[in-house]
Amino acid sequence: MNNGGTALVCGAGGFIGGHLARRLKQDGWSVHGVDIASPAWGALPIDTFTIGDLRDPAVCRSVIDRRFDEVYQLAADMGGAGYIFTGDNDAAIMRNSALINLNVLEACRLAGCERVFFSSSACVYPRHHQHDADSADCVEASAYPADPDSEYGWEKLFCERLYLAFNRNHGMRNRIARFHNVFGPYGAWTDGREKVPAAICRKVAEARDGGEIEVWGDGEQLRSFLYVDECVEGMLRLMRTPDFEGPVNIGSDRPVTINRLVDMVCEIAGKRLTRRHVPGPTGVRARNSDNTLIRERLGWAPSQPLQTGLAATYEWIAAQVEAVRADAAPAAPASTMLAAGKAQSAAAPVAAV
Ligand code: NAD
Ligand code: GDD
Repeated sequence: MNNGGTALVCGAGGFIGGHLARRLKQDGWSVHGVDIASPAWGALPIDTFTIGDLRDPAVCRSVIDRRFDEVYQLAADMGGAGYIFTGDNDAAIMRNSALINLNVLEACRLAGCERVFFSSSACVYPRHHQHDADSADCVEASAYPADPDSEYGWEKLFCERLYLAFNRNHGMRNRIARFHNVFGPYGAWTDGREKVPAAICRKVAEARDGGEIEVWGDGEQLRSFLYVDECVEGMLRLMRTPDFEGPVNIGSDRPVTINRLVDMVCEIAGKRLTRRHVPGPTGVRARNSDNTLIRERLGWAPSQPLQTGLAATYEWIAAQVEAVRADAAPAAPASTMLAAGKAQSAAAPVAAV
């Protein structure tokens, strides 16, 4: 599909950006990455990797110096409930992510890059649609009248409008997806930005059989979780659809409670653990992806069972926990990523701007 083009991945050092960059390379693209930090999981097998701060317009213009066929904008100040729902990081999240989007988008316009993918979030949906399982409504049109439950969600909503305004006023063909809790190997798992799938995998891996693990809240919060490979597949499909800009959900429409998630990870690990419910940032009570629109417009929707992605994620996180315990070098990549990395073995040259 579309082999041989040039792509820029902003935020390539991060979780979804890293998976996307590898996939594009495997598909035969010329792939360029930029991030404020080196990839946490080691050098990426792509064409170039630039270290630069995308809040700076001059950096954006120097990295976006030509007409890339596709630009994927995944750079953001983001994290799970422990990062975005405490309130402590609100100013940083809004300022950092808004500056990145304003500057990347303008640099793309100036360089003639028509097609920019913007990664919005399920956090844009109003809180009153997410009080309980019965009222959980993440139909795209329900985002207005707006009332997101976090400043992170408000910044995403503003930027959705920004990308759409550039489509209307500057003839761009930007694409917008609202991701629903994406998980997989190489995501944040221990730095305070981890989301619940990674947090629970870590806690289960660290616990001794027969012990207990802490769960924030009563564990009856409802979420749907999307494995990163399916997220990347959805992004590529949306980017290349000729006549649909979004916003559209990219998420699983099979929700589980956090308690059920804990049980699934325990089953994968072969451990019997007791849940200890403790106070913590919980966010909305119930959230699920509505996949009617994506099915209609892309003829596709995520379908993989949660169990499959969770097993690969647990394997990777358990290896990280073991490596930390042994005070050894980071563990070898999980089997899924070894397979993904086969096509390219050389790492990208790293430049800084
Ligand atoms: P991530 O934190 O792993 O990746 C974001 C990357 O952006 C990081 O590598 C970070 O270093 C980089 N970055 C931050 N500030 C920068 C700056 N000033 N200049 C250059 N790079 C900078 O997050 P992710 O999970 O890969 O998320 C990617 C995108 O998808 C984000 O926009 C996020 O808001 C969105 N999203 C993710 C999820 C999810 O569940 N992972 C859900 C909804 C939306
Ligand atoms: N992170 C975390 N860690 N969450 C826990 C834990 C834990 O140890 N124990 C229970 N939870 C609960 C949280 O309290 C919350 O109710 C639920 O698990 C989900 O938490 P997260 O996965 O951290 O975040 P989220 O689903 O509320 O929001 C995430 O997904 C959005 C898209 O759907 C965030 O990553 C957002 O940034 C993202 O946009």
